[in-house]
Amino acid sequence: MGTRLGTTITKKLMEEQRQFPKSTGDFSGMLYELVIGLKVIAYEVNKAGLMNILGHAGSTNVQGEVQQKLDIFANTTLIHKMDHTGYLCGMASEEEEDIIQIADKHPQGGKYVLLFDPLDGSSNIDVNVSIGTIFAIYRKTSNHPKCTLEDFLQPGKNLLAAGYAVYGSSTMFVYSTGLGIHGFTLDPGVGEFILSHPDMRTPEKGKIYSINEGNSINWDERTKKMVDHFKANDESTGRPYSSRYIGSLVADFHRNLLNGGIFMYPPDKRSPKGKLRLMYEAIPLAFLAEQAGGAAIDDKGRRILDIVPDELHQRTPLYIGSKQDVETVKEFLV
Ligand code: AHG
Ligand code: MN
Ligand code: MN
Repeated sequence: MGTRLGTTITKKLMEEQRQFPKSTGDFSGMLYELVIGLKVIAYEVNKAGLMNILGHAGSTNVQGEVQQKLDIFANTTLIHKMDHTGYLCGMASEEEEDIIQIADKHPQGGKYVLLFDPLDGSSNIDVNVSIGTIFAIYRKTSNHPKCTLEDFLQPGKNLLAAGYAVYGSSTMFVYSTGLGIHGFTLDPGVGEFILSHPDMRTPEKGKIYSINEGNSINWDERTKKMVDHFKANDESTGRPYSSRYIGSLVADFHRNLLNGGIFMYPPDKRSPKGKLRLMYEAIPLAFLAEQAGGAAIDDKGRRILDIVPDELHQRTPLYIGSKQDVETVKEFLV
């Protein structure tokens, strides 16, 4: 007897494409190319302990952070996988100072721009804890072949698609093109992502709060009060919440997406703008959270998807997760 494999990404992308009768197939083609890049990274992550690929690369990135060998591997893999597809006019990576122009190879220029955090959770690479890749795709807005910084500095509400891969106890791919959010699990035997979590919805209210409490000495009063709120005893509102913090945003987000809860990376005395990057982390995950019925705001209570970025590597405070929990946070912030 044969085995039923289930819905592959290709099939799901085709189904979504049919909802746009004028679609050329370029968008689905681009996403599928990206997925192959993610599979290459997943394969490398899985055998990382066997290869000479753990540890520092001896370099720092544009933000002065120590780069791990896998950071560089993931970055190069995505750039090399995507720069010759013809779909893109440029890319931006957390690990690259400037935008990556690819119009030279394709003089006609691609229609889309791709942004990514190639390896999220670098501090967990060497210790076999979940890490991931986050991406965002916009339509190019300028009308000459070379893309400009303005093509990238778009608010999240203009996103065409966003998603992530999480390299955990299994590898998952989660994405949205604005038609709901879907999760696929990599079947390592056949090398395909199979639809395992269709139309994901996050609980309206969770039981988990996620924050690096080691930073609490540097928090302002509103942050301290907010976190105390989630730890206080009140049976009627399901408190105290449980604390869960992996230190890989993508993995913390994924857990809270499934189980419900709130992830917070507030500003503090050492990082007055927070630590997370607006364009590679906050915006794509905010898009996914909203598609699942959740919400995401900054420390001024602004919807993350409404923020117009000023610079490529901008940072932002981030509060993301179940809708009611984000509302609660907002009451403490503004
Ligand atoms: P990256 O590995 O891409 O630099 O991102 C690390 C980020 C994010 O994944 C995580 O939520 C956060 O750093 C953890 O920061 P702390 O160690 O300060 O808690
Ligand atoms: Mn990251
Ligand atoms: Mn990273």
